[in-house]
Amino acid sequence: MTEQYDAIGARFEESKCTAAFSAADTFSLGRALGDVTGTPVLDLACGYGFNTRLLAERGARPLVGVDVSVEMIRLAQKYEARCPMGIDYVIADVADLPPLGRFDLATAVYLFNYASSRATLRAMFRSIRANLTGHGRLLAIVPRPTPFPEGNYEEFGLRILERVPGAEVPLIRQEFTTDPPTPLEDYEWPLADYELAATQAGFARVRWSPIRTPPPDAVRDETFWRRYRENPVSCLMTATGGDR
Ligand SMILES: C[S@@+](CC[C@H](N)C(=O)[O-])C[C@H]1O[C@@H](n2cnc3c(N)ncnc32)[C@H](O)[C@@H]1O
Repeated sequence: MTEQYDAIGARFEESKCTAAFSAADTFSLGRALGDVTGTPVLDLACGYGFNTRLLAERGARPLVGVDVSVEMIRLAQKYEARCPMGIDYVIADVADLPPLGRFDLATAVYLFNYASSRATLRAMFRSIRANLTGHGRLLAIVPRPTPFPEGNYEEFGLRILERVPGAEVPLIRQEFTTDPPTPLEDYEWPLADYELAATQAGFARVRWSPIRTPPPDAVRDETFWRRYRENPVSCLMTATGGDR
């Protein structure tokens, strides 16, 4: 099956490296991870391996990156071939994940917003829970419901274009503000649906934290980051515990 990220390809890298919302996500994930030295980690929806390499630099081992897009995994493997970090990459749909091991931590940065139904969302959380140890932790960055049409995120690297009603969940048409813009689509789940799917999959506890912002610099000063904290694209979900 052709995935939208097969077509987006390397243009995702341009967005990831330039968009303010991505900088805030990376900063927040880095702070939330804590010490992962020697920790077995599964990076889900790993894309071209940006966060997977961040985890490798912090000493996570063994480390497996999973993505449904053949092109994203090809780009990730290109990095791994150029500069080996001991990362294994697997092409798989997280909603139908095979047993990959027993991991203490799973990360999922913008995965759940691609679930087109509640059944798919539940299947994703179930697959993840099945690959975690009993005390395993899931750290996920998920989009908040968008302020569109009253507000938008253009200055932060993302332009919402349209909300299309759906049977279970609205579809959001949007674009990364790359040059040229990169169109993409995802689903606008209320945070309560993520939480319900997690608990139905056996996670015992779910906690939400606001996204954090990097230290101000000459390009993005404190006023900029304050505006972002008032209207952030995403938030951080931590799910822990429960039976396997
Ligand atoms: C916005 S990108 C995020 C990539 C990476 N987490 C990052 O932050 O750089 C979303 C990724 O989710 C992947 N994806 C979407 N649905 C998926 C699924 N069902 N299983 C695995 N990967 C999926 C896409 O192929 C894409 O690479």
